[in-house]
Amino acid sequence: MERETKKIADSMIEHIYQVRPEHLNAAGRLFGGKLMEWIDEIAGLVGMRHSGGNITTASVDNLRFIRGAFQHDLVVLIAKVTYVGNTSMEVRVDTYVEDFSGTRKPINRAYLTLVAVDDKGVPRQVPSILLETESERAEWKAAEKRKELRIQRKKEGF
Ligand SMILES: CC(C)(COP(=O)(O)OP(=O)(O)OC[C@H]1O[C@@H](n2cnc3c(N)ncnc32)[C@H](O)[C@@H]1OP(=O)(O)O)[C@@H](O)C(=O)NCCC(=O)NCCS
Repeated sequence: MERETKKIADSMIEHIYQVRPEHLNAAGRLFGGKLMEWIDEIAGLVGMRHSGGNITTASVDNLRFIRGAFQHDLVVLIAKVTYVGNTSMEVRVDTYVEDFSGTRKPINRAYLTLVAVDDKGVPRQVPSILLETESERAEWKAAEKRKELRIQRKKEGF
């Protein structure tokens, strides 16, 4: 059977949270673990939409926080597929703080690898993606390098 192809825009998600008291750490900033939960959740939803079923998170790269967020801030997460292998998908999640004028300042860019799984947890093939823009093609190329690095690190246990 021929492999299905989907557009990146078909599974892309943008979501906004307002930082509330229950999201704060003891120092009054957005708790990093809460942001990690939001990142994992939105990436997982993109993976489910793209693959049309269950997924599991295989790895998360690069959680470097450039700035904090505080109570009442608007935190924007934008997540999209950047690359697919056979059963895995790389999803990029960009996180920003947005002020009331709509200006966005970056907090973090994370790359997650999600693996599509069947009911028994066995990896299953995912649709390929249609690359429509130069930036999508460049992101795919960069993702191939990131995948090589992850394979290398897995081999070396590093
Ligand atoms: C992710 C998981 C299904 C992969 O199983 P596996 O036996 O290594 O499967 P395979 O070797 O067939 O690899 C399947 C795909 O996962 C990718 N993969 C495996 N380990 C990976 C890792 N550490 N990082 C990135 N991708 C990985 C492989 O490259 C492959 O991709 P491809 O099919 O697109 O080429 C398995 O390791 C697992 O279930 N892990 C636990 C996941 C989990 O519970 N996550 C929630 C957090 S607690």
